[in-house]
Amino acid sequence: MSRWLRRTDAGRTPRLEFGADYNPEQWPRETWTRDVELMRDAGVTIVTVGVFSWARLQPAPDVWDLGWLDDVLDLLHENGIAVDLATATASPPPWMHHRHPEILAVDADGRTLWPGGRQHHRPTSPVFRRYALDLVEKMARRYGEHPALAAWHVSNELGCHDVHDHSPDAEHAFRIWLRERYGDLAALNHAWGTAFWSQHYGDWAEIRTPRRTGPGTHPNPTQQLDFARFSSDALLSHLRAERDLLRSLTPDVPVTTNFMVMGETSGMDYASWAPEIDIVSNDHYVHPGPSARDELSFSANLTGGLAGGAPWWLMEHSTSAVNWQPVNRAKRPGELARDSLTHLAHGADAICYFQWRQSAAGAEKFHSAMLPHAGSDSALFRAVRDLGATLRELAPVAGAHRVPARAAILWDWPSWWAAEQPFTPTAELRYKAEALGWYRAFLDTGVRADVVPAGSELTGYELVVAPVLHVLPAERAAELAAFAEGGGHLVTTYFSGIVDENAHAVLGGYPGALRELLGVRVEEFAPLDPGATVLLDDGSTGDLWSEPVRVVGDDVEVLAGYTGGGSDPGAADLTGVPAVTRRAIGAGGSATYVSTRLADRAPLLRRLLDAAGIVPELPGELCGRVELIRREGFRFLVNRTDTPVELAPLGEIESLAGLPTTTLPPRAVTVLRD
Ligand code: GLA
Repeated sequence: MSRWLRRTDAGRTPRLEFGADYNPEQWPRETWTRDVELMRDAGVTIVTVGVFSWARLQPAPDVWDLGWLDDVLDLLHENGIAVDLATATASPPPWMHHRHPEILAVDADGRTLWPGGRQHHRPTSPVFRRYALDLVEKMARRYGEHPALAAWHVSNELGCHDVHDHSPDAEHAFRIWLRERYGDLAALNHAWGTAFWSQHYGDWAEIRTPRRTGPGTHPNPTQQLDFARFSSDALLSHLRAERDLLRSLTPDVPVTTNFMVMGETSGMDYASWAPEIDIVSNDHYVHPGPSARDELSFSANLTGGLAGGAPWWLMEHSTSAVNWQPVNRAKRPGELARDSLTHLAHGADAICYFQWRQSAAGAEKFHSAMLPHAGSDSALFRAVRDLGATLRELAPVAGAHRVPARAAILWDWPSWWAAEQPFTPTAELRYKAEALGWYRAFLDTGVRADVVPAGSELTGYELVVAPVLHVLPAERAAELAAFAEGGGHLVTTYFSGIVDENAHAVLGGYPGALRELLGVRVEEFAPLDPGATVLLDDGSTGDLWSEPVRVVGDDVEVLAGYTGGGSDPGAADLTGVPAVTRRAIGAGGSATYVSTRLADRAPLLRRLLDAAGIVPELPGELCGRVELIRREGFRFLVNRTDTPVELAPLGEIESLAGLPTTTLPPRAVTVLRD
């Protein structure tokens, strides 16, 4: 992942890219000319072309029509606009499912997912794969030398609609995947715990994907976890197939594919995908609500973590309303720039939207774009143009890596999948919400934290929070222990360390693989009724979960205990029982355990940061109201609130691009040199 756009590579003047998905096939040619004029006016430098063009490029199996795309690429190039060229395999054309209904995906009830929308194919279909690679080859041979070509964009949002496919092709591929993972059936039977409920397999052919089972029961949990892993890997295998072909034909052109690190999108383990592409790129859409801004920052931060701190590419977000919420509101003044600049702050060197021109027809005609239905004489287009101008002036930021924080939050897709499976102590647990809660606590305290995939190198971090790190193989647990023994401060929560990589409970008491490190032991979980709370004797409250924690190790301090004042009448009486503990370890390290879901994690985090000697990098008056983000040489300040924030506590400051220096208006961002 060391490459950036081909045409702006070696010795380039730093530049931030600005653009969108461009879908000229939806418009007559006269519109194309106007499009590029307005793109230049808006400061657009790059567009993604061809994402949903397959049916136009190959109108029938033996008919190709690429001439119009030649013209589009030439026109863009003549106007100085680079192209991120899609391989165009994102959604198969009607002739394919007409001739080959066997490419259609199947859901967990065995129902066919019919065409009419998009991405209705099986990721593992050999027929689809063959046609897709034919198209990729055609594109690579035709456009590999085109001067507009800056990068390849494999497919589009792989797994957006078809990640969990239960078709016969998927079952066949699942069995192959399982053979590779386990080697023989004995190992699989052990891993899946098939002694339970008479599930022992005597032949690979007996194994199926975890389809819907009868009411009141669910498929084997390890089968579910492996299916989640397999489904992510099946998409990755498609990504690799396209990438390998592209690399063999056009070795100098970097390859990307747009991830979906956002909201509750959980199907793809991007930690395993990121090393496979040249440029990490991400799509992010805001899900409205009180956490929306902080969630955007969290996702951008995690994308930076996937890119290893190097610059990445924001491939899509929205200028204003989306069309897929129950109610789709326009962004408020300032939000367009704030959202884009927050991604930039977290490492995006390209700021792109879906899409350039708002469609007049089709499913997304009410989704915002850079150029709205109202046309260029609109507040939205003016805001887009202003942002383009700002990005031009912020060009010196391009290429700057993120400045590592002293603290980190670990993020783990298998834990997300397993902790939210059915048949657990509570159906209410939400993995992302717990991680986001800790992230918000960091933002509230004014201390930066990097969000990094679990298993990342922890050297350099002084405090690491591992929320609901539910799936914890022994080697990973040993790494966390080594971190604490080496002087690091580990913080973890309920339902962490509970199962190994096969989703087998770690025996001897909870929290399983972390029990000794934390110096506590729990014999039974004590989940709470929905809406019920527990009170802690430090004044904090928790919900969702509680535990009769017993201190069993040396050097364990109780930071907070349960009181009898909870609101769940049926809950165990935990009066006087430890709720939050901290064990001193080795050379100044520690391991903290939080056995409930705290309503506000910031007070505890402040104590832990103090103990670790980690102080905010912002003046106290700004902590909580402003998010500080750093890239080498630059500081970004984002107003998290809807009220102005005075920047006087920073003293005299100089900003880039004429951004604010005295007062940060509501939802505004400013950029300072370090
Ligand atoms: C995804 C897709 C785009 C578009 C947007 C709408 O990100 O990649 O094609 O559908 O959603 O929000």
